[in-house]
Amino acid sequence: MDWRITVSEWVKLCSVAEAPEEGKVQETGIGDVQICLARVNGALAALDNLCPHRQGPLGQGWVEGEAVICPWHSWAFSVKTGVAEYPVHERIRVKVFPLKVEGGDVLVQIDAARVA
Ligand code: FES
Repeated sequence: MDWRITVSEWVKLCSVAEAPEEGKVQETGIGDVQICLARVNGALAALDNLCPHRQGPLGQGWVEGEAVICPWHSWAFSVKTGVAEYPVHERIRVKVFPLKVEGGDVLVQIDAARVA
């Protein structure tokens, strides 16, 4: 049995002013955690930047509807759930990090061990 304790904490990703405009994505990250930051329908979303297909950089892709499109082979992932919309498959997904805006900063909740 694995007794490791996972501790998550809120970490500043960027300022709101540095976040992408409506309908855009950008690559960013904290420590070794690469994040795709998107703004869709006025809301920011933080997804794992690495596409589960062949590790394409989602933050270099684009937004269609409520999905981020991978620039390499056009797989699409919901910004809300991370689930693949193309190809349609519930088990293909990227991690969506909890995100909040506080005092002009964009904060994401990530595993503290991955930030060090
Ligand atoms: S690497 Fe993203 S669709 Fe192929």
